[in-house]
Amino acid sequence: MDKFRITGGRALKGRVSISGAKNSALPCMAAALLSPETVTLHNLPYVRDIITQRRLLEDLGATVLTPELRTHKISASHIELFEAPYDLVRTMRASVLALGPLLTRFGKAKVSLPGGCAIGTRPIDLHLIAFEKLGAEVKLEAGNVIARAPSSGRLIGGEIHFDKVTVTGTENVMMAAALAKGRTVIKNAAQEPEIEDLAELLNKMGARMKGAGTPVIEIEGVEALGGAEHTIIPDRIETGTFIVAAAITGGELEIKSCRPEHITAVIHKLREAGVEIEELNQSTLYVRRSNGGLKAKDVTTEPHPDFPTDMQAQYMALMTQAEGESHIVETIFENRFMHASELIRMGADISISGNTATVRGKTKLMGAKIIASDLRASASLVLAALCAEGETLIDRVYHIDRGYETIVRKFRSLGADIQRISESIAIAADAAEAHTK
Ligand code: EPU
Repeated sequence: MDKFRITGGRALKGRVSISGAKNSALPCMAAALLSPETVTLHNLPYVRDIITQRRLLEDLGATVLTPELRTHKISASHIELFEAPYDLVRTMRASVLALGPLLTRFGKAKVSLPGGCAIGTRPIDLHLIAFEKLGAEVKLEAGNVIARAPSSGRLIGGEIHFDKVTVTGTENVMMAAALAKGRTVIKNAAQEPEIEDLAELLNKMGARMKGAGTPVIEIEGVEALGGAEHTIIPDRIETGTFIVAAAITGGELEIKSCRPEHITAVIHKLREAGVEIEELNQSTLYVRRSNGGLKAKDVTTEPHPDFPTDMQAQYMALMTQAEGESHIVETIFENRFMHASELIRMGADISISGNTATVRGKTKLMGAKIIASDLRASASLVLAALCAEGETLIDRVYHIDRGYETIVRKFRSLGADIQRISESIAIAADAAEAHTK
């Protein structure tokens, strides 16, 4: 397993470009299963989850051409398999996004149940209840979800009220309802920018939906969808991560190719905490830590448009460098504080009680050997290591490869001292260190 070796203490300076949003690219790739015609997607991030999603589409029988590294031409004219198997769902929960498209276009789909993951149990019951509302018969058999359309072969539009806001649940139902007979209304829908991006693609393919980005999405089902060409939106979480990187290292960054309006809650909170953020234009931010230093500010994660859970870990790293006590409340996932124990190993003063983390700052962080537990936790640890004194070795960085494109290269171009070391070199380094002790 690869590791990162980071020597902290350098203020990051320069320009960085934001990649396409992984969490928009994944549903848009799944949407290509809805049509026999080609769907061309641009600005896909070159990250592990996209490679996994591509493998899933190809296993199902779709053809994926890559004329350029970040462009996929997906043709699902011939689908042979109607199943997302356990080995793929286990590595990437977003494989469940195949369920809606397969069920609605072919009348049948089988997806392995995702089971637990590092950030909680993350069930898909709300997806399944919604499919049943659209007339599907859903059975659980030997760890698989088996869903079938009614005997007519086509799902039937209906009213779905999600008890809890679910991003991929909303996306699955949008895709399923696009080809259902009649009208579907999704209430308490997720409002994330990725939902709007998916709706834009689906409408380009011939779907008839409106309201994406609000809590109510209305969909008039159509009989067939065609091909389309679409450019994925920039990754708002990568944007937020680089804003924190500038602030935590006391640096100065120009962040390009981003969409500031997608992270207004993050920008607002970071400004309160003492980060200077200027919108140079619609797609460029200028960021630096204000002269007064960082101030502790409480935050609670909530569905969009509020503060995203996917920025909670990075924010916690930042709060270790802020003066005062901050409370970070995680309301979306029940087990998403695993980075806290690693930050504590680096010298942070953090205590956890239920879904609240209390961070007392400012503390001096010291380099240490630490372990990444999930994608955003890894980002938080990289940020902490960049401002820590001495060397940090982060293990299991495959988590970060799932969602951050060329992160080592991007940070190095900003002046960070960060290196990826492959397992064999890491073992050699460990052995050398043990020998000198
Ligand atoms: N939930 C249920 N039942 C369901 C679905 C969700 O109880 O059927 C619960 C979840 O357990 C969780 C909450 O509802 O407590 C919200 O989960 P949601 O379904 O919104 O999460 P998701 O769709 O599985 C997406 C992102 C996550 C991001 C969350 C929340 C993708 C591929 N993943 O997950 O991204 O944290 O929304 O915004 O879009 C990441 O990128 O690191 C990541 C984990």
